[in-house]
Amino acid sequence: MKIRKAIIPAAGYGTRLLPATKAMPKEMLPIIDKPTIQFIIEEAAASGIEEILIVTGKGKKVIEDHFDSALELEYYLEQRGKFEELRKIREFTGIVDIHYIRQSERKGLGHAIGVGRKFIGNEPFAVLLGDTFFDADPPSLKQLMDGYDRLQTSIVGVQSVAADKVSSYGIVDAKPLVDSFAYVNRLVEKPAVDASPSRLAMVGRYILTPSIFDILENQSPGVGGEIQLTDALNQLLAKEAIYTCEIKGRWHDVGDPLGYVKAILALTKQRAHLKQNLQDEMNELLKEDPQSPDSGSGDPAS
Ligand code: G1P
Repeated sequence: MKIRKAIIPAAGYGTRLLPATKAMPKEMLPIIDKPTIQFIIEEAAASGIEEILIVTGKGKKVIEDHFDSALELEYYLEQRGKFEELRKIREFTGIVDIHYIRQSERKGLGHAIGVGRKFIGNEPFAVLLGDTFFDADPPSLKQLMDGYDRLQTSIVGVQSVAADKVSSYGIVDAKPLVDSFAYVNRLVEKPAVDASPSRLAMVGRYILTPSIFDILENQSPGVGGEIQLTDALNQLLAKEAIYTCEIKGRWHDVGDPLGYVKAILALTKQRAHLKQNLQDEMNELLKEDPQSPDSGSGDPAS
């Protein structure tokens, strides 16, 4: 069966980026001049997804406004002959159908996906986390969808992370199969590094079979008191095989402060007129400042 629908959970608090995310959804944080969630929707559309459900929460209405038409603004730009700006706000319209549903209580990723049950019905579907995008060709989701065509079961996108990042992600224990695919034995949500089965982290891209919904409905809270998708996937393993797909491309975890800065730098590099001055500016900025408490005088290990 073809993957046609996707869920984008975008209801979390974004606590790693407070206070910026106090009133502004982290999914709307701009990477230069485009909100993160727009990259994600463009990726889904480029992968062949036809319909998207964004699971929003309190304070996330601005996401709906962003993807709505803006007639007043369009008129304003038209009157002033600002056609390039007009193109920028119009180019996105209609590339994919977007629906919204509110998760009234923030009970975790697993719960947010469960909220999409009626929208999905009884077909396999994609999940793209709203704070993660990739610079990848083919698009990261397309890599998973191509895997689904061959394997016909749930697939989790993974990449290797440094040891000090293991406890921030869901980690998989998997046995290599073929190409970028491996067979999942078990999954652990945010393990301590010394208890982690590997360094292969789930990176916010999933293809799931609809069997996950019954499991999510009866799922008890796990790590952090939240209904965890990772726990539900462990239960799914008892019924169906799950594979990992090691995504080829650059992963941007925008929900993490350093990840956010790196995403902006990576995209700056892709824009010729911005890239030109970036190196000089960075050299200037990073020059040792003798006044700065961070300049590391004395102890080389500090
Ligand atoms: C969620 C998932 C985790 C995954 C991560 C990717 O965690 O629970 O398994 O590795 O997204 O970003 P969160 O970042 O919502 O705490």
